[in-house]
Amino acid sequence: MKIIYGIKEIRDLSKSLNMGFVPTMGALHKGHISLIEKSLEENEETVVSIFINPTQFSPGEDYIHYPKTLEQDLEILKKLNVTAVFVPRSDEIYPSDFDITLGVPSLENLLCGVTRPGHFRGVCLILMILLNLLKPQRLYLGRKDFQQLTIIQKMCKDLLIDTEVIGCPIFRDLDGLPLSSRLAYLDSSLRSAVSLFPKALSAIIQSIDNGNQDSVYLKENFTSLIQREESPFYEILYADFYDKETLQPIDDVKKSIFCAALMVKTLEKSVRLIDNIPFEISSYYPQSEKNILLKCIES
Ligand code: PAF
Repeated sequence: MKIIYGIKEIRDLSKSLNMGFVPTMGALHKGHISLIEKSLEENEETVVSIFINPTQFSPGEDYIHYPKTLEQDLEILKKLNVTAVFVPRSDEIYPSDFDITLGVPSLENLLCGVTRPGHFRGVCLILMILLNLLKPQRLYLGRKDFQQLTIIQKMCKDLLIDTEVIGCPIFRDLDGLPLSSRLAYLDSSLRSAVSLFPKALSAIIQSIDNGNQDSVYLKENFTSLIQREESPFYEILYADFYDKETLQPIDDVKKSIFCAALMVKTLEKSVRLIDNIPFEISSYYPQSEKNILLKCIES
């Protein structure tokens, strides 16, 4: 496995590769590994990047304290047999005279964008830079960050980027919570308190499967299940049924994706947890995604 730090070297390497690309900020977990394994299956070569992107952190967020586990990450990637890992230097990505903004105005200020001003602009920027450098055939992103995925698909479509953007299934922990590098911030009592989140999501699935399609009732039920144990430790940032392309709330639950975010407050920091469940079953959103969540909750 090649470890590449410089822009010139990654440009030279990527010219010769037909590749799948998995961008990360490190602190790799099984969710990342599932994206990398999908890329390894579908491409001759796979390149992974590790870069804690400063422009996507809003003021007051955890940029400085974001978990840094480069050595362990490199060990994991070596075992997976990826072709190369790109670990760029911040001053090469964002030189002091850097002066470009990018965004998708109709999608970036909704859902998580309401409480993370500028976040999605930073994500667009770094992914555009990395796509320009690597020119991959396929880009792999997790469907947990559904808004991020939707925005990047739209950016690539509108800018005629010749890369297929592939959304990969959510990788869930045993209690049903999606894996995330920031889960490490929660102590065991908060971790067990927030396991109400996947339980409340699975209650929506069960109600819809039993024929209830009243979006107002379903949302209220979700909220009351999460707040059942009146907790000062977290608040619901949003929870609604959305159109998959416009991210606008819709009433037709069968055509929607339900997306929700919780802000969990620990002594030192606030941790955002996001999750979603699609209700229009297709080859892109197979029934198995719902079943995996239901199974976690039952066991
Ligand atoms: O999802 C993430 O980890 C980041 O937003 C990404 C896509 C690596 C861009 O920095």
